[in-house]
Amino acid sequence: MADIGKDISQAKHLLDAGELVSIPTETVYGLAGNALSSVAVASIFETKDRPSFDPLIIHVASLLEAKNYVTDIPVSLNALAERFWPGPLTLLLPKNNNIPDIVTAGLERVAVRVPDHPLTLELLSQLAYPLAAPSANPFGYISPTSPQHVQAQLGEKISYILDGGKCKVGLESTIVGMEDDEIIVYRLGGLDISEIEELVGPVTVKSYSTSNPQAPGLLETHYSPSKPFLIGDLDELISKYLGQGDDFAVLSLDKSFSVVSGRNQIALSPNSDLKEAATHLFAAMRKLDESNATIILAELMPDTGLGRAINDRLKRAATKE
Ligand code: TXA
Ligand code: MG
Repeated sequence: MADIGKDISQAKHLLDAGELVSIPTETVYGLAGNALSSVAVASIFETKDRPSFDPLIIHVASLLEAKNYVTDIPVSLNALAERFWPGPLTLLLPKNNNIPDIVTAGLERVAVRVPDHPLTLELLSQLAYPLAAPSANPFGYISPTSPQHVQAQLGEKISYILDGGKCKVGLESTIVGMEDDEIIVYRLGGLDISEIEELVGPVTVKSYSTSNPQAPGLLETHYSPSKPFLIGDLDELISKYLGQGDDFAVLSLDKSFSVVSGRNQIALSPNSDLKEAATHLFAAMRKLDESNATIILAELMPDTGLGRAINDRLKRAATKE
């Protein structure tokens, strides 16, 4: 099992030695290694069972530091960085030669962000290199939002988890880049698009499709529980599965159902607050995945604000026909 603690110098010591450490961020926990070391980065891919065509985000302490690893920052993206870093925003920027190709899976751009967590910012400020860090889950499974989630799945493979408590955003960062003069959102995430548009004007959302190689890691099936995960109208789904006598669990935004036992249902936010729902999403999916139920039934959120990013995760998690 990994040690869980708040010891930044222990984390630094391991990272300096080329080992991996799980780090807290405001979005989800990361599985971090020295981004300038191809060997450390290769062990991230191996530990996560992640395909090598799926590039990694590098984490730095500040915008100033980010400039060491990119050749240019377009004006609008610079404005976003100034406004939202540290925070749940990742920028795709033309990469400098000092970033190994394995980090970007051979792409011309590198994904960069400044995470908003005091322990990790302090750690980053003490390191002589950026941290490459994907979410600290086995590839394809639900992302971790607490040290215990990381321990449960990668605890046998790493020696230290830096304990920053529960993630306060709970969804991965929003990924933004440019194509010609257009601002593109490649992954909906913890930073609401309307906040981005307020600053830089309209953006185009280009979520994954097989014809969009720009965000190769955004596979159609991802974030998946190990049980069948079905999305639809909950009243209909519940009456169908009640009729079949199945032991199911229910994930809703704000409803509770008298015909379902309390421990087999989770309302993400009884007050219908989408930010609160985002914070609880992954922990709730995990909890229901670990319950005795054999199927998980879920509903989509209103498609506004963070609801869009939550729906993106729910749809990718859903069992495909
Ligand atoms: O909130 C987050 O972004 C978390 C925390 C740990 O920072 N990290 C995270 O990393 O979600 P990961 O590896 O699970 O997801 C990163 C996504 C992948 O889908 C990958 O394809 C995309 O970012 N990405 C990374 N580098 C890219 C690049 N150079 N070009 C296009 N997409 C890239
Ligand atoms: Mg991930």
